[in-house]
Amino acid sequence: MSKLFFDYKGILLPCMGCNAEDIAFAENEFQVRDDDIFNITYPKSGTTWMTDILSLIKKNGDPTWNKTVPNWDRVPWIENHVHKAQVSEEQPRLIASHLPRHLFVKSFDGSKAKVIYTVRNPKDVAVSLYYFAKMTSFYEDPEGFDEFVKDFITGDIPFGSWFDHVKGWLEMLGKDNFMVQTYEDLHKDPRGRVLKICKFLGKELDDKAVDSVVENTSFQFMKENQMSNYSLVPSNYMDQEKSPFMRKGTTGDWKNHFTIALNEYFDKIYKDKMQGFCMKFPWDENL
Ligand code: A3P
Repeated sequence: MSKLFFDYKGILLPCMGCNAEDIAFAENEFQVRDDDIFNITYPKSGTTWMTDILSLIKKNGDPTWNKTVPNWDRVPWIENHVHKAQVSEEQPRLIASHLPRHLFVKSFDGSKAKVIYTVRNPKDVAVSLYYFAKMTSFYEDPEGFDEFVKDFITGDIPFGSWFDHVKGWLEMLGKDNFMVQTYEDLHKDPRGRVLKICKFLGKELDDKAVDSVVENTSFQFMKENQMSNYSLVPSNYMDQEKSPFMRKGTTGDWKNHFTIALNEYFDKIYKDKMQGFCMKFPWDENL
């Protein structure tokens, strides 16, 4: 195992900003409140985007918070800032996490806290993660894309297998406090999806406020916003010269990276692992 990662109950986690003690605290001792809102994702599925959307909804479309406070302080990560998240007096607390369902905060079970789970075409996740692994010092620098995709498939990377993560969280489908959001639908119809998110959160925004949420979370706006684009992180941790954090923000970039053979291999495994799964995703149409 890479020295950059540690194993927590069979799941690899990055050592950077994260340790087994804090994860155990998050799992066993963190006290969820009924009005908490969790932004949950597998890495590179649109976490930062949802963080900014939720921040703006919370502030009724006023962009000041998004423009002045870094995303990790607005929506702290439970795996990196569990103690800060715990003592926050903010209501509702907005909290992000990549933890798989089976390692998630126990006090969440039975609470009314809400989860928005953003899920993205795994091929685009693999591409995005490949570039992320190249630009950060807390992931192993991948040797080649094909090798990287094989590790992605086996789940031999931080936060484990995409398949297990998605299947684990989507067991909550149908529950009142759970909403699934695809990156692809958000990309296609941001306004429509922001309205759905507001409805799920029981938050009524007027048209102007909804417009502001959409405008201030466009890819271009977030790419230029220092509080969203991670440019405040020193370059020895994230080298944006190698690849910007806000890289392309598109759907289907996998087509520029997967060879025909790798794509066929991936599709075969995808079909096998997702066979009989209860939900159809936008990308399933092309299988
Ligand atoms: P790409 O690398 O494909 O560009 P996460 O926040 O979960 O780490 O996900 C990062 C991915 O979401 C990156 O994908 C990033 O560009 C994309 N992203 C972030 N904000 C976005 C936005 N406002 N619109 C579209 N994509 C966005």
